[in-house]
Amino acid sequence: MSDRPGTDRPILIAPSVLPADFSRLGDAVEALDEAGVDRIQWDVMDGRFVPNLTFGPDVIASCRDRTELLFEAHLMVEDPDPLLHTWVDAGCGLVIVHAETCRHLHRTLGRIKDLGAGAAVALNPSTPPEVVEHVLDLCDMVLVMTVNPGFGGQRYIDTMEPKVATIRRWIIDRGHDCDIEVDGGISPDTVRGPVGAGANVVISGSSMFKDPAGLGHAVDELRRLAEAARA
Ligand code: DX5
Repeated sequence: MSDRPGTDRPILIAPSVLPADFSRLGDAVEALDEAGVDRIQWDVMDGRFVPNLTFGPDVIASCRDRTELLFEAHLMVEDPDPLLHTWVDAGCGLVIVHAETCRHLHRTLGRIKDLGAGAAVALNPSTPPEVVEHVLDLCDMVLVMTVNPGFGGQRYIDTMEPKVATIRRWIIDRGHDCDIEVDGGISPDTVRGPVGAGANVVISGSSMFKDPAGLGHAVDELRRLAEAARA
């Protein structure tokens, strides 16, 4: 086991489809696959937990057969429990709930795993890492938000890096099989910090879609810089 935090876990590049043309999401999914991403994140927003609305399970299901890549549902929704099965039925292999929306987080994570999907928990910037300390054994991934959720194109919050390092240390010291994902303001300029702190899954939306050299270049550049952050 390497002594560098998280370096035993592969770097995974995962786009958010939030910046994509919503009238052609299936084409965006195929283009992201061709660009070499490792999985695709769907930012689900309900207009209550965050001041924005996006898409439901039927939209995700309509894109399922356009790629073999893993779909992860990032549920920025109040009270996610009643609809957990709909995201799995739509073809999501990983379901991310926000700790701030789960009255019984341990039970919710267990229910996601009972549905046959990977279970993950997201933490808003103001939420301390201790909130997940006692459920890491149920987590396939922890998402450390590096912006306040609800919108793409926001500025990266670098004060989240110690939170990443704390969670990675717990994972290593206690032998958990758990990825750490960062999401929000991730670009070639900001990716080295969180990966150096121990994150291994990188979400990028606006930076990736705005790359003038195209999605393939954006993916390759992020991967190269993330790997270099571990050297
Ligand atoms: C916030 C969203 C965004 C999105 C990526 O709720 O979760 O973080 O995925 O946004 P960018 O990469 O454009 O900051």
